[in-house]
Parts: sequence; structure tokens; C-alpha cells
Amino acid sequence: MATAAPEIARRAPAADAQRPADVLVVFGITGDLAKVMTFRSLYRLERRGLLDCPIVGVAVDDWDVDQLKDRAKTSIESTGEQLDPKVFERLADRLSYVEGDFGDAATYERVAKEIDGAQQPVFYLEIPPFLFGRVVQGLSEAGLTTNARVVVEKPFGHDRASATELAEELHQYIDESQLYRIDHYLGKMGLEEILYLRFANAMLEPLWTRNHLESVQITMTENFGVEDRGHFYDPVGALRDVVVNHLMQVVAASAMEIPSRRDPTSIKDAEIDLFRAVVTADPAHYVRGQYDGYLDIDGVAPNSTTETYAALRLDIENWRWAGVPFFIRTGKRLATTATELRLVFKHPPKLGFHLHSQRRPEPNQFVVRLDPTTGVRLQVDAHRADMAGASAVALDLEFETEGGEGPTPYEVLLHAAMVGDSTRFTRQDGVEEAWRIMQPLLDSPPPVHVYSPGSWGPEAADQLVAGHGRWHEPWIT
Ligand code: BG6
Repeated sequence: MATAAPEIARRAPAADAQRPADVLVVFGITGDLAKVMTFRSLYRLERRGLLDCPIVGVAVDDWDVDQLKDRAKTSIESTGEQLDPKVFERLADRLSYVEGDFGDAATYERVAKEIDGAQQPVFYLEIPPFLFGRVVQGLSEAGLTTNARVVVEKPFGHDRASATELAEELHQYIDESQLYRIDHYLGKMGLEEILYLRFANAMLEPLWTRNHLESVQITMTENFGVEDRGHFYDPVGALRDVVVNHLMQVVAASAMEIPSRRDPTSIKDAEIDLFRAVVTADPAHYVRGQYDGYLDIDGVAPNSTTETYAALRLDIENWRWAGVPFFIRTGKRLATTATELRLVFKHPPKLGFHLHSQRRPEPNQFVVRLDPTTGVRLQVDAHRADMAGASAVALDLEFETEGGEGPTPYEVLLHAAMVGDSTRFTRQDGVEEAWRIMQPLLDSPPPVHVYSPGSWGPEAADQLVAGHGRWHEPWIT
């Protein structure tokens, strides 16, 4: 399997690209996200020759740089990456460590000393959101934010009002253009693939409209549960955890008009136009579920009604999509792990010329799979030699066998933040529109239905698609 993924290296700089980072400062480097994602991504960037600056870790733990290097090494190895000692040595040589409490002004003075002379710092805050404001204030007071880019992790608020408040707090110290909000779905190959499939193929583009489609299904299922994340997950739930952000990005890529230019503003404007056309969601078209056993998880309230499964319908009121419902579902502890977009075409009429005319042809389906690997499937009805009449046949294309393995989302995003390409980061107006769409579901949540682990979720979700066929099981290979 190919390991090189030159795509992001070759990418032309965006029109409003900024200067590349001359230092990367990671707040919260001793935490979990660094362990499972950041070190591995930095290592892979190093291997591909895409790292070009020192890396400073900041955290409250009483560590020295050797401990940080050890943590980096074990973290990379535990993600299954084959460690090349020379590559790791180059990465380790970039690392330094600043210990400090994020509430203490002296911490930022120490950071300032450590990065003295840097003209284009990138600060990556992999810390709980309630600390974002404090850290950005500290950086600002230490005179470090003038040219800085600040990368933050979701969640961006827990509803529309808090998302606005958070942005207002950060905007006291830095401009919106300096803020790089990570939604790792924007770093997925599959998401970009949707745009290319739609707009780089004259054969496909005309199909993505109400003229041909009956409905659209977006499915993100996970066969694992909340496990040791109870404290994080219980106040959040599936809607806030993955729908308002990740799955709305899939909606955007599937439904927006073609951006007129490659620059980040044009692409984000196209997304906002689409979001504005999405009708505010209706709790009558929202089904929540909770898997049996969820209540026993450490950190989950004994009588919690948090959803681990969410299914909903969105409607888009514009010329391209009016009348084509978008059905979205996601859940933990379901039958399999997969994420896909599925276009369900209109039903063909009964076949008059066909002898065995009892069977109504199946509607065509076009599937773009995002996870666990990328690929496309076209489901057609065809006459096979081994059957009396027509039946469904799938034409499958696995991108991995075509182009090799792609870069991981965090690699893509960290690199983009370092070179100053904000295309794949969410803008505040997009965040607020997504919350606007979901807000009624947060305000008036329907009751949760308990479902069995390993199932496809609560049966009540079938009602949601009534009149539009059925939920389709994701395409698995
Ligand atoms: C995270 C959620 O943002 O995305 C998790 O917090 C979820 O609950 C994960 O499992 C899914 O992302 P991916 O890329 O691993 O499918």
C-alpha cells in the first residue's frame, strides 16, 4: 500500500494564503488528543518533509523535554505507525516544553521567551473550550497575537447563543481571520471527493438535483460506544457531538453550489448560502435513541436522557433541492462503522416491455463512502444472465486501490494551519447557521428510545423515512 500522499504538498496556495508558521505552539500537549492524533500527524508530516519549524508544547504537567519526547514516541507507536528512527529524531529535535498554569500570566511570559523572535506563530489549543478565552487573552497580553493564527478544537459552543458568546470573547483579542476552527471532517479526503465528483464531472453534476433525486441519506454509524468518554459525552449527545458539525459539513459539500474561486472566502460563502437555504429543523422529524447499557458508563448520569443515536430530516428550500429531503442518522454501538452519502434516485415506472413485469425496478443509488475508506458505488438495475429478470447490480470503485492511502484529516488540517490556508476551517457565520438549523431540536428534544447494541438503532427512525423508501444499510466491503 502506498504511504506517500503528495496531494496536500502539491496544492496551490490559496489566493489569500499567509506566511508559513515559524513556530507551532501546542497548548495541552500532554493530553489525550495529542496522544492519539497530534504526535502521529506531526510525525507523518515530518516524514513527508512538510514540517519546517520548532514545536513548543505547553501544559500544566511538571515534565521536561525528554518526557515529552518519550510521550511523542510511545504515542506514535501506539497508533500503529511504523517508526522510522531518523524521521522521529528530526521530529524530536523540534520539540521543547514550557510548563505552566493557563491561568497564570507568567506562563505566557515563558512562552514568549521560548518563541522569542518568531514572526508567524501558530497556537494550537487542544484544551477544553472554557479555557480558549483565557489562553488567547494570556497570549494577547504577552504581545504574542499580532500575526498569530489560533487553532481551536470543537465544540464551538453548545447552542447558537453560546457559540456567539465564545466568538465574541475571542474576538476581543484576535480577528476572525486569525481563528482556525478544526472540524476534522473538513480534512477528510471523502469530503473533498464529493466536491470533485460533483463539479469535475459533467456526467454527474446534472444528477444532483430535485429533477433526478428522490431523497438523500447521510449515514454515520459507529460500532463502538462511549466507553471512557462518559464525562465528555453525557452533557453533549450525538446531535452536538457529530451532527451540527461533521454531518452538516457533509450536507454542505453535497448540496452547495460550485464555489466560483479556490480562495477560502469563496468556498465558505458557498457553504453559507446553502446553510441559509436549509429550513430550521423540526422536532417532529427527529428521533433520538440511547443504547442499552449507556447508563452504566462512568460519567453518565444515572437517569440520563442523552441521545447516542440521532436521526433527522432536513429540507432545503432552493431551486436545486426543494422537495428532496435530506435524511441524516448517526449512532454509537450500531451494527457497523461507516460513513456515507447516498443519493436515492426517483423510482422508474413499471417496465412495459419486460416479461416478468411484477418486479418494480429499484431506484438507482449513488453512494460516496467517506469511512472507513473512500469509494463510490453506483447501484443500477440490470439484466443478469443468472436471473430471470433485472436485479440490482453495484458498480464499485475503491479509491485506495486507485490512488493509494490519503493523508489523515489531522495531517491535512495541521499542515493547512501552518501554511495559513483557512479553506478547511469553519467560519463563525457557518457555525452559527448550523446551530440555527439545529436549535429547535435542542429546545424541544423528543424522548429517547432505547436500542440494542449491534442493531441499526431504534425502530422509530423508520417512520422518519416513511413515504421515501427506507433507510439503506451502509455499503461495506
Ligand atoms: C468526534 C466525536 O468528533 O468524531 C466522536 O467526538 C466520533 O464521538 C468521531 O466518534 C468520529 O470521527 P471519525 O473521523 O473517527 O469517524
